[in-house]
Amino acid sequence: MIIKHNVQLQPHNSFRTKALAKIFCEPQSAEELSEIVNAFPNERKLILGKGFNLFFTKDFDGIVIKPAMHGIRILRENDRFVEIEAAAAEDWDHFVKYCVDNGYAGIENLSLIPGSVGACPVQNIGAYGTEAMDAIVGVKAVDIPTGGCVAFSREECGFGYRDSIFKRTALYAITSVVFRLEKSFQYREKYIDLHRELEGIPSPTLAQVRDAVIRIRNRKLPDYNLLPNAGSFFKNPVLTEEEKDRLLSELPDAPVYTTNEGQFKTSAAFLIDRAGYKGKRRGMAGVYAGHSLIIVNYGTENGREIVDFMQEVQHEVRQRFGIMLAPEVRIY
Ligand code: EPU
Repeated sequence: MIIKHNVQLQPHNSFRTKALAKIFCEPQSAEELSEIVNAFPNERKLILGKGFNLFFTKDFDGIVIKPAMHGIRILRENDRFVEIEAAAAEDWDHFVKYCVDNGYAGIENLSLIPGSVGACPVQNIGAYGTEAMDAIVGVKAVDIPTGGCVAFSREECGFGYRDSIFKRTALYAITSVVFRLEKSFQYREKYIDLHRELEGIPSPTLAQVRDAVIRIRNRKLPDYNLLPNAGSFFKNPVLTEEEKDRLLSELPDAPVYTTNEGQFKTSAAFLIDRAGYKGKRRGMAGVYAGHSLIIVNYGTENGREIVDFMQEVQHEVRQRFGIMLAPEVRIY
């Protein structure tokens, strides 16, 4: 395995901010990953997927490890379901397409989400009423402090909304993910946007659902090649009853959903809209005109400019509605 020094991270984050990694490597197997963490016990470590959910504000004084293990294999199957293990560096949408093409149902709503398979459990990616945790049955990883190989059941992953044990502790480097997918598919309405897109199709197939998701995403979300961004920048805020009541007294038309845990969730995009920030630009950072949850980069290589703008949006939303938006994107 080649160990590189002073590597530019700009091509490795979709916001395209500049920063140097003191050390950088791309292990091709769990064994190589294990070797590398053991070889540098005292260095800070960052595990990087395809960099679609993070950006850099300064150089990284440590080792950046970009898993490079590939492969998709069926572990077992019967006439109802299939269990598939996909390696961390597999492209997420490539894996979704493979499943849809083979008639394996469960992750089609997660079509076109950028990133790698190994990153999907970290923030429990979600869209159109489906979350990665619905299909994941296990995760294999290297324990960074010891270099040992570990396996997690779904319960041990501690999944939550855009959250998991991997995100909370940053102690594990994921090497592969095991999914359990159904061999039969019956479309059920889960999300109004997707349902509208499928109008007129009486019993949509897996491929039709995937195509509909791709159409919605292409319409709503900016192309990161043209306008660098990291997808949803903020999480949708979870509110206490008091915060919810206060919000509704100020903005009676605010969307409020009840979560499975009996809390309340509202739309960060809606709050940013109402704070007057839709399409607003400050210097080289701005809120995307087509969807307020996305901060776009108009041309800076300095992550600080993105952070300054993030703080301005947070400040405005808090001043007006008493709600602090938390970034979903990770900032280094
Ligand atoms: N809305 C606005 N203004 C906008 C956009 C949306 O007010 O500019 C309001 C509307 O009320 C709309 C509601 O927000 O009904 C929800 O919008 P949308 O369906 O686009 O979903 P979202 O809550 O903004 C979440 C995920 C997305 C995911 C979509 C679709 C988070 C942080 N984001 O966005 O995930 O694609 O649902 O399921 O949970 C990502 O994580 O990077 C991401 C793109």
